[in-house]
Amino acid sequence: MPLTDKLNMLADGLAEQGYAVIDHFLLPDEVQTILQLDEFQNGLLQFKKAGIGQQQEKQINESIRGDYIQWIDRNTAPPPLQVYLEKLNTLMGFVNQTLYLSLKDYEVHLTQYPPGTFYKRHLDQFKKDDHRKLSAICYLNPNWKTMEGGQLRLYLQNKTEDVLPEAGRLVCFRSDLLEHEVLPATRPRLSLTGWLLDQVADLRHL
Ligand code: OGA
Ligand code: MN
Repeated sequence: MPLTDKLNMLADGLAEQGYAVIDHFLLPDEVQTILQLDEFQNGLLQFKKAGIGQQQEKQINESIRGDYIQWIDRNTAPPPLQVYLEKLNTLMGFVNQTLYLSLKDYEVHLTQYPPGTFYKRHLDQFKKDDHRKLSAICYLNPNWKTMEGGQLRLYLQNKTEDVLPEAGRLVCFRSDLLEHEVLPATRPRLSLTGWLLDQVADLRHL
């Protein structure tokens, strides 16, 4: 399916349900080249614990989320990540046109959840002045099995929906509306986690 068709499905999902799940947003070869990057080959060496890590808050943070992240600097990102950023940029232009949004930029980090870690139910936009409008997560785990856990659980109006973190799959949702959580998994869970912003991203993460 051409990228435009996938983006049409994504725009429909966002407009009608506030979220969309798009398979093969990244193709298997594109996922493989990303997994071969030093960042992912070196385990957690180049990653930082996510969230604010002040001494007193650390304990609290640990009970909320256990993921490790590395922000992508688009100016120095290696080609396999540029491919992803380029697709996100196309996605942004597409939803701006079809949904009359005025998204201006995006920020993305590499993410690893070691086995047993999770991220409790939350909203990605927690302050009124938050500039994150859409969350976009692309998974990097080939052949993920249901019994391995690690589902993204979306809290919809009257039900929940679980999404398996299968390689190439993109999940996109309204950052201000959709509560969600990451369930613990029995194997490392890798992804590219990003947000589309209504203002230009600054360098605060770098
Ligand atoms: C997050 C998040 C979901 C996922 O990083 O805020 O909710 O499926 N990630 O990784
Ligand atoms: Mn989240």
